[in-house]
Amino acid sequence: MTTLVSGGAGYVGSHTVAALHEAGRDVVVLDDFSNARRDAVGELRRLTTPDLVVIEGDAADRTAVRQLCDEHDFDSIMHFAAHKSVPESFADPLRYYRNNFLSTLSLAEIAVERGIDRFVFSSSAAVYGTPDQLPVSEETPPAPQSPYGTTKLMCERILADTAASSDLRVVILRYFNPVGAHPSGRIGEQPITAGQNLVPAVMRAALGPLSRLQVFGNDYDTRDGTAVRDFVHVTDLAEGHVAALQADLGTHRSRVFNLGTGAGTTVLELVAATEAVTGRPIPCEIVGRRPGDIAESWADCRRAADELGWCAQRDLRQMLADHWRFVSCRADASPPS
Ligand SMILES: NC(=O)c1ccc[n+]([C@@H]2O[C@H](COP(=O)([O-])OP(=O)(O)OC[C@H]3O[C@@H](n4cnc5c(N)ncnc54)[C@H](O)[C@@H]3O)[C@@H](O)[C@H]2O)c1
Repeated sequence: MTTLVSGGAGYVGSHTVAALHEAGRDVVVLDDFSNARRDAVGELRRLTTPDLVVIEGDAADRTAVRQLCDEHDFDSIMHFAAHKSVPESFADPLRYYRNNFLSTLSLAEIAVERGIDRFVFSSSAAVYGTPDQLPVSEETPPAPQSPYGTTKLMCERILADTAASSDLRVVILRYFNPVGAHPSGRIGEQPITAGQNLVPAVMRAALGPLSRLQVFGNDYDTRDGTAVRDFVHVTDLAEGHVAALQADLGTHRSRVFNLGTGAGTTVLELVAATEAVTGRPIPCEIVGRRPGDIAESWADCRRAADELGWCAQRDLRQMLADHWRFVSCRADASPPS
């Protein structure tokens, strides 16, 4: 049996394809390459199998997805394909609603139509907005503060309602902040579009010589005034997806899990840790807060530990060392500014 992986050429998707292959699953990747490089597929094939099937196409294109279903015997879908930048989603919300919503709707419809057993969805801590208590558990009422976060919550609801009325079992994974790269150095984060994630920007500043890191706000009510996030190694996330595919959901038709480490790191702590790992100074410039950013967020991961048997294994130093190995060895891995 085979897993259809939408967005499998992207950052988290490609690491998950590698983990699925290692776990003995067959995989078909569907990606429109709106935020992935075609040459990354060669590296992914070297890491997995030269026969890895990668189809260029839009996950919202039902005709194309139905044709893939005719050609392969899918028992599961992992849906990574989405636009993911919070600032971009404020600038162009309709593009975000269209892509994230329609791709999920189409894949959910086809999953039911074709009797697929399991659907694993990439959601985000962005659905929580400003949490009223920390760590953030799955029971925290969602209140997204950006169009991006709202698209993720809408998709979660489509999938939960679909699961409630069909045989499809849905696992919703709310990632905190994915960081790092595959230990082989072959795959990592190589965005086409200018993402605004922190670690790629920190790495760009470490690569220098002219780059500075913009720190968005140092007046939050946190231990050093900068925002706190829960960084989690992308390989740990990938392993979380394998666990989600195999998990016994008991009586639950759909289930939400946080994937993080349970520890919070400030922006300035992350900068210091990156300086230690890379041996490079990282010049910082403090600028104003960004819309949609919250002060603090870190995950309560007990449900994933209890029900998926999953816990993050890799610490911040390893995340940064693996990320740095990837970006410093590849001129093309430096994210666009
Ligand atoms: N990286 C993060 O910080 C983060 C955090 C929380 C949640 N997520 C979610 O995890 C998922 C994967 O994120 P990522 O960091 O790997 O992003 P990414 O941009 O690297 O990967 C997404 C992939 O999907 C593809 N894609 C986008 N729209 C498509 C469509 N309609 N059809 C086919 N392919 C399409 C892109 O080309 C890209 O390869 C996304 O759904 C994202 O919202 C990411």
